[in-house]
Amino acid sequence: MNLTTYAQPDPHSAARPAEAVITHLSLNLVVDFDAKRLKGKATYRIDKSPQSREIWLDTRNLKIEAVRYADGSKANYSWGEEKPFLGKPLRIELQANTQSLTIDYSTTDGAEAIQWLESEQTQSNKPFLFTQGQAILTRTWIPIQDSPGIRFTWDAEVKTPPEFMAVMSGRNIQKRNDTGVYSAQMELPVPAYLIALAVGELEFAPIGDRCGVYAEPQMLKAAAYEFADVEKMLLAAESLYGPYLWGRYDVLVLPPSFPFGGMENPRLTFATPTIIAGDRSLTALIAHELAHSWSGNLVTNSNWNDFWLNEGFTVYFERRIMEALYGADYAQMLEVLGHGDLMATLNDMGMDSPDTRLKLSLEGRDPDDGMSDIAYEKGCFLLCYLEEEVGRPAFDSFLKRYFKEFAFKGITTERFIQFLNKQLKLSDEQKAVVQRWILSPGLPAECKVPKSTRFDTVQMAVQQFINGNDALNTRGMENWTSHEWLFFIRNLPIELSQSQIERLLKPMGWYESGNAEIRFAWLMNRVQAGDTTAFPHASRFLSEVGRRKFVLPLYSALLNQASMRNETIALFNKQASRYHAVTRNSVEERIKSLKK
Ligand code: BES
Ligand code: ZN
Repeated sequence: MNLTTYAQPDPHSAARPAEAVITHLSLNLVVDFDAKRLKGKATYRIDKSPQSREIWLDTRNLKIEAVRYADGSKANYSWGEEKPFLGKPLRIELQANTQSLTIDYSTTDGAEAIQWLESEQTQSNKPFLFTQGQAILTRTWIPIQDSPGIRFTWDAEVKTPPEFMAVMSGRNIQKRNDTGVYSAQMELPVPAYLIALAVGELEFAPIGDRCGVYAEPQMLKAAAYEFADVEKMLLAAESLYGPYLWGRYDVLVLPPSFPFGGMENPRLTFATPTIIAGDRSLTALIAHELAHSWSGNLVTNSNWNDFWLNEGFTVYFERRIMEALYGADYAQMLEVLGHGDLMATLNDMGMDSPDTRLKLSLEGRDPDDGMSDIAYEKGCFLLCYLEEEVGRPAFDSFLKRYFKEFAFKGITTERFIQFLNKQLKLSDEQKAVVQRWILSPGLPAECKVPKSTRFDTVQMAVQQFINGNDALNTRGMENWTSHEWLFFIRNLPIELSQSQIERLLKPMGWYESGNAEIRFAWLMNRVQAGDTTAFPHASRFLSEVGRRKFVLPLYSALLNQASMRNETIALFNKQASRYHAVTRNSVEERIKSLKK
C-alpha cells in the first residue's frame, strides 16, 4: 500500500493513515444476548512509515481491555480528546518493527451501530442483532480506522448461542450449524463502514446462480418470491458498467426495526421487510443497493463531504437497471417521484441553504446531518444532465471508465471533476453548469423536469376525483401498479370530505395495505389533515416499523398537530427503546426542537 495516497484529511476520523494504516482486520467475537454485548478481540495487520511510532484508531463507547503486540507483550496506549458523535481516538505506541497488533475489547450499551432486538420484535420470536456502520458507527463496535478513504481486507469468527446463525458482509457459510461458530471473509479491500454483522434465527434460500436471500424462516418464501429478478438485475448492471467483482450478491431481510430501506453491505445487502409488498413493486431498492457494488463499494467517497458521489451515482445507476428490466416508462415514474422528492427537500431546506450543495462541508457536524435527498436526487439529475449533453453511449462509456479507473479507491469531488473534464469534451459553458451544480446551493435551471405519461393519467384521475366525478373509474385504473397508486395518494389534497374518504377507503383499505409506502403516504395525508381518527393507525404503524424514512416524517406530522401531540410523545416514549439509535436520535431531536 502506498501511504502517500491518503492526502485528503477526513474530518470525521482520527486516523492518520500517512503514518500508519490498517491493511487487514481479524475479528474474533462472542455474542452475548443476555448482556447485549459483543466481546472478543481484533487483530490488525498494519503498514507504517519507517519513522512512525504510533497508530491512531477511532473508537466510541468501547471498553478496551488490553492492547498487545504479536509476541503477546503489552503495548502502551493513550486516549485523544472525546468528542460528540466522533468518540474517543485511541493512540497506540508502535515499535520500529511492529506489523501487527491485537486489541481485547467489548462493546457497551453505547454501541449505536448495534440494535439488540427483543424476541417480540422478530417473527421467529427469538432475539436478533444487526449492525449499521454507515456513516461513522462502526467505531462503536470495532476499534478501527473509520474513514471511507481507508480500505482493508478482513476475516471474522463469530460465536453465537446454538440456535442462531451469524452472517456478515463477506463470504458466508450459508448454513446453520450446531456449534454456533460462524466465519466470514472479505478478501477485497473495503472501508470500515461496510463491515456488518447480523445474528438471528436465519435461513438461506438461493434465487439464482450468484444470488440468494437470508431471512427468518417465516419470511423466507415471501422474500425469495419478491426478489426473483435480482439475478437479472445483476446481469443488467454488468452489461452497463462492467463485471460484478464481489462474487455472490445476497440480500438479508431484517426485522422491521431496521432503520433504513437498504444498506449496501458488500455481498450482502441488508434490507427492510417493508419492501416485501407481495407484488415485487418495491424492488427498485434492491437495484439501488446492488448498484452500490460499483458506486460506493468499488469507487468510494473519500470522506462524507463527497457523499453525493456514492448516492447520486447509485440513484442514476438504479434507474438504468430498472429501465433495462421494466422499460423506460417504469424508470420515468421513478424519476418523477425522485424529482418530486428533490423539490420538496429544496423547499424545506431553502434554495440558498449550504446543505443543498452537492459538495458538503460537514466538519464539526454529524455526517448524518448531511445525508438528504440532495446527494441522491440532485446528484442523479446532474448525471442525467451530462447524459443528455453528451449522449447516452458516450456517457455510458465514460462511467465504465470511471468505475475502472477508481476501483477500490476513494474519490473526491475535485478528482471527479478533473476526470470528467479530461474524459468528456465539455464546452466551457457546460463546465460552468457542472461547477454550479456541485458548488452552488439550489438547483440549476438546466435540470430537466422529468415526465411520465403513466403519471399524467394518474393526475387526471386525481382531478376527476376532486371534481366529484365518481371516483375510482378512470380507464386503466384496474391495471395500475403501486407506483401509480402512490402517486395518486401523494397528489390528493388533504381537504377531503368524509364521503370522499369513504369512497377511497372502502375499496382500497390503505390503512391496512401490505405495501408500506402506500400505507405511509395515506397516513401522512390524514395526519396532515388533522384527522384524529388516523392516530390509532399511525400508532400501529409506528409500533411495527422502525425505518427512519417513514418514522421521522410521521412523528413530525403528528407532533405538528396540537390535537395529537401529547399522545404522540407518549407513543414515542413507549416505542423509543425498540428503535435503532439512528431512528431514535432523529425523532428525539425533532421533539427537542419542538420544546425550544
Ligand atoms: N447507503 C444508504 C443508506 C445510508 C445512507 C445509511 C446514509 C447511512 C447513512 C442506502 O444505499 C440507501 O440509500 N438506502 C435508501 C434506499 C434507496 C432506494 C434510496 C433507504 O434506506 O431508504
Ligand atoms: Zn444508497
